Amino acid sequence: MARKKIALVGAGQIGGTMALVLAQKQLGDVVLIDIAEGMPQGKALDIQEGRSVIPTATHLSGSNDYTALAGSDVVIVTAGLPRKPGMSRDDLLDINFGIIQKVGLAIRDNAPDALVIVVTNPLDAMVYAMQKVTGFAANKVVGMAGVLDSSRLACFIADELDVSAEDVRALVLGGHGDTMVSVFSAASVAGIPLPEMMDKETFDRLAKRTAQAGGEIVALLKTGSAFYSPGLSAVHMAEAYLLDKKSVLTCAAQLDGEYGVTGGLYCGVPVVMGANGVERIIEVGLNAEERAAFDVSVEAVKDLVSWVDGKMAG
Ligand code: APR
Repeated sequence: MARKKIALVGAGQIGGTMALVLAQKQLGDVVLIDIAEGMPQGKALDIQEGRSVIPTATHLSGSNDYTALAGSDVVIVTAGLPRKPGMSRDDLLDINFGIIQKVGLAIRDNAPDALVIVVTNPLDAMVYAMQKVTGFAANKVVGMAGVLDSSRLACFIADELDVSAEDVRALVLGGHGDTMVSVFSAASVAGIPLPEMMDKETFDRLAKRTAQAGGEIVALLKTGSAFYSPGLSAVHMAEAYLLDKKSVLTCAAQLDGEYGVTGGLYCGVPVVMGANGVERIIEVGLNAEERAAFDVSVEAVKDLVSWVDGKMAG
């Protein structure tokens, strides 16, 4: 059986992190693609030279040509600009939309059977645009945000309770922005409902930090945005697909009436991720407060999407 092929479009901070993690996991051969001359080739060669000590049999290569996408089973897109201090994800909209259009057409033409995982921000708009540009079925175009946001919340809960993060399960729904919704009743520690271990006030404080976690890292780094945990999160999604794990992951998925949302909108919801991509969407019961917050988040996504629709019509 031939090895799987994973293409990383954008070989910057997140792309490079993913290449290393994918090599460690040996999920398939990796091609890094970027417009920066020599950079994807250099990163691929650098990791290749460490293969005997990782150790791994994964083959890595780099290219400045989108035809290197050919035959990819998974394409993970981080091409675009990252946030700078003081810049919101939405400020990135204009620049990154142009990049997603270019990359989307290249994926459509070179890798028509691939699962496409979009990471570029503002995520909910970029994944929506990617689906429109490629024309791929909605189950094959998905956005990475909820895995990261849920992991961030789980980390903060674990630190607060002084327990291992691997025992904490957390659920963050909605758009990947300031309006994301952390669900108190859905969090647990080794199967124990979180409300038995933490009061709501504390949870709300951690939820607020989660919604601002990307900005917290931007302010610390000063030269870019988070990349280790985003890279790990996107690889986690690719792994679920490549190994047909049927993992329940919160992803930006296209909604078709689920959660009362229509119009092809992408929003962060729990999905089953397996060999068919997004195999189904799971609807979680929300209380009145969570539902209201989710609706606010959907409105924020709608604003972004109507901007994309306007651009595409023009
Ligand atoms: N095709 C291919 N690569 C491109 C293109 C393009 N049209 N335009 C830009 N790139 C490349 C850049 O050359 C750069 O190497 O995308 C890469 C982005 O890498 P970084 O600037 O290091 O950004 P990173 O931290 O990896 O984040 C990428 O993910 O989380 C989001 O907000 C973040 O939108 C940003 C994206």
